[in-house]
Amino acid sequence: MRNKIVAGNWKMNKTRTEAEALAQGIVDGLAGKNIPDSVKVLMCPPAPYLWQVQQIANGHPAVFVGGQNCHQASSGAYTGEIAAPMLTALGITYVLVGHSERRAYFGEGHDILKAKVDAVIAEGLQAVFCCGEELAIREAGEQEGVVKTQLTESLFHLSAEQFTQVVIAYEPVWAIGTGKTASPEQAEAMHAFIRQLVKEKYGAEIADQTTILYGGSVKPANAAALFTQPNVDGGLIGGASLKVETFVPVIEEMCRQMA
Ligand code: 13P
Repeated sequence: MRNKIVAGNWKMNKTRTEAEALAQGIVDGLAGKNIPDSVKVLMCPPAPYLWQVQQIANGHPAVFVGGQNCHQASSGAYTGEIAAPMLTALGITYVLVGHSERRAYFGEGHDILKAKVDAVIAEGLQAVFCCGEELAIREAGEQEGVVKTQLTESLFHLSAEQFTQVVIAYEPVWAIGTGKTASPEQAEAMHAFIRQLVKEKYGAEIADQTTILYGGSVKPANAAALFTQPNVDGGLIGGASLKVETFVPVIEEMCRQMA
C-alpha cells in the first residue's frame, strides 16, 4: 500500500521559539495515538530551524522533517543557498521542489527544477515535487496540459528506480492561501490524471505506489472530503499547519481513514 502523508509547509513563518513549540506540540499531540504504518507526518520548517525541528521529530517514529528548497549544486559559490547534502547531514529526509511560490517569486522554471530533482534524488532524499495551474489556466480548462508539462519537463527523465523517491503534490495556485479549496471532485480528477501519466511512463505498479498529495487551503473542515478521494493520498498544508490545533486534527482524519 502506498504511503499517506500529511505535510506542513511552514513557509517563512515562526520565530525560533514558536517553531520549537509547534514541532513539540505536533509530536506531543500524536503521542500515544494509533498512527497506522502507512501514515507519515512531515514538517517543513524554515531552514534555520531544521536541525532543532529534526531533533524534536526524532521523538516520534511517524514524524519526518523536510526542507522547503535546496540548490541544484552539491556545493560551491552560491551565497545564501542550501545544498541537498547539507540537509542529509541534519537527518532531513524530504525536500519540497517546485512550490508555486518558488516558481513565481524566484523564477524557478522547468530546467532548474529538473536539476533540483536530480540533486535531491542523488542525495537519497525524497523529493516532494509540486505542480499546479494558475487561475487563468483553470478558467481556460487547460490545467491538465500545464500539469503534464510540469511533470514531463522536470520529473519524467528519472529512471523508474529513481522515481520511487518522488512524492507529487498537486497544488492549484488559485487555492493556495486563498481559503478557496479545489472541490474533492476537482482534486480527484487531477490526481487520477497524474496517476495515469505516471502509469504511462513508469507502469502500473509504480503508479500505484506513488503518493499524490493535494495542497491548497486544506483544513480540518475539508480534510475528510478530500482524503476519501481514491487518488488523494494526503495533503501539503500551509496555513493550517502553523497551529497544533488545526494540523493535528488533519493528521487524525487521515489516521481514521487508514485505520
Ligand atoms: P495553504 O494551505 O495556506 O493554502 O497553502 C498551501 C501550500 O502552499 C502548501 O505548500
